[in-house]
Amino acid sequence: MKGIILAGGTGTRLHPNTIACCKQLLPIYDKPLIYYSLSTIMQMGIKNILIISNKIDHPLFFKLFGNGKKWGLNIEYKIQKAPNGIAEAFLIGEDFIKNDDVTLILGDNIFGAIDFKNLSLPKKIKGGVIFGYAVPDPEKYGVIEFNRNKSIKRIIEKPNNPKSNIISPGLYIYNNKVVDIAKSLKPSKRGELEITDINKYYLNKNKLKLIHLNLGTVWLDAGNSEALFQAAQYVKTIQERHNILLGSPEITSFNQKWISKNKLKKLIFEMKENDYKSKLIDFFKKI
Ligand code: G1P
Repeated sequence: MKGIILAGGTGTRLHPNTIACCKQLLPIYDKPLIYYSLSTIMQMGIKNILIISNKIDHPLFFKLFGNGKKWGLNIEYKIQKAPNGIAEAFLIGEDFIKNDDVTLILGDNIFGAIDFKNLSLPKKIKGGVIFGYAVPDPEKYGVIEFNRNKSIKRIIEKPNNPKSNIISPGLYIYNNKVVDIAKSLKPSKRGELEITDINKYYLNKNKLKLIHLNLGTVWLDAGNSEALFQAAQYVKTIQERHNILLGSPEITSFNQKWISKNKLKKLIFEMKENDYKSKLIDFFKKI
């Protein structure tokens, strides 16, 4: 399984914060936003990761992550030349995906308290897997409508009158066929290759599995200032109450047994003095 983090976009809804710095590098309390999506796909067991960004931001992501080796990862990079839509990730990533299945996560989405080991994720991906999450403002997202027997009726991107409050957040798992499906897409009215059209394709073939994320899980789309602030509050509150560190690639890598205790110690002690380091030391003392 390969992983793609899509970290493109112009971030205009966050101007002036994102005039000189891209959204995915803005801080969510004590670490950049993209740390959370990276940690999420690491928790899913994915080590081969492609980061897609625009040209200007590419060196910044490289400065942050390099080739990922320090965390037991292989991180590669590709450029999205224009904001042509989420589904373009599979065209840009074709050479990286090769013959594998692929998980895509949006670099501005934060997932919390999801126990991937206990989710009924299929061992072999036969089509597509999406997640369902209840929100108060479904009209802003890809909305999932249901039949009486609770199977998916349709998925509609940003409907004016949503018929359901369950939306599909920015985490998708597909078999290798997604590359061909992406090639067959036409841009939508907003001029983008829509991820919802990929999901509709799988749905029409009866190959789309939906996994509901229950209310105990957290999904935040840090797309505007309010959501960014809420996300920071969430991270601060949970970290302080439980004395843990969310969205830490170092901890995730250690938990996945991709780096040893000694390697973790080395990574921590190479860091300059800061809050993030102190929290890693607290974690280290407990293991
Ligand atoms: C995109 C997708 C939408 C999904 C959302 C999750 O919306 O098109 O289906 O629910 O991400 O963050 P956009 O970021 O383009 O508004």
